[in-house]
Amino acid sequence: MAKRRVAILISGRGSNMAALIEAAAAPDYPAEIALVLSDKAEAGGLARAREAGIAAEAIVAVGGRMSFEMALNARLDQAGIAFICLAGFMRVLSPDFVERWRDRVINIHPSLLPAFPGLNTHAAALGSGAKLHGCTVHFVRAAVDSGPIIAQEAVAVLATDTPASLAERVLAAEHLLYPRALRLVASARAIVDGERVLIDGEPAKGAGA
Ligand code: GRF
Repeated sequence: MAKRRVAILISGRGSNMAALIEAAAAPDYPAEIALVLSDKAEAGGLARAREAGIAAEAIVAVGGRMSFEMALNARLDQAGIAFICLAGFMRVLSPDFVERWRDRVINIHPSLLPAFPGLNTHAAALGSGAKLHGCTVHFVRAAVDSGPIIAQEAVAVLATDTPASLAERVLAAEHLLYPRALRLVASARAIVDGERVLIDGEPAKGAGA
């Protein structure tokens, strides 16, 4: 099967983007990172992507969300993109955009969804007294941080944790989880079935699949 062309959308440093780029360099990886786009010209990840030889561009919103998404769609279509990975992309995509790309946009979120959607997830997890925290890769739906879950990785919360120390361990888990999840999606082993994702036809297979 030909490698699926993937675009990564970022707003910042792009450490998850870098993990995807590194994984996709393997000859047997089912996706190639064809394009990196940022809504922020100053995103550190853009330079990182270019160093890896990947086309990386900023699309800066001038006329609001609709014109931003028109420009985004034009660029994605031009590059023949099959799947989009959101990796620290800080804009909320419109329902129209999400519908146009239904089941072809995935996101990584730093919590075990549906717990702790939104920002500041590590402080929220600590504040809740949760003993397990972690990260989730999911198909994107219009509601923020919602959608069928592809894969999750749990991280134990330690008594000594601060939001920063917990974030560091979750980020390390993210860097392993996202490449695994994109592999499942790009090879069509992960398929949306209603509100769930089936992996190889089964509902409960985990991230290690
Ligand atoms: C990650 O924690 C990701 O889960 C969240 O934003 C952060 C982005 O970090 N959505 P990076 O830009 O990938 O380093």
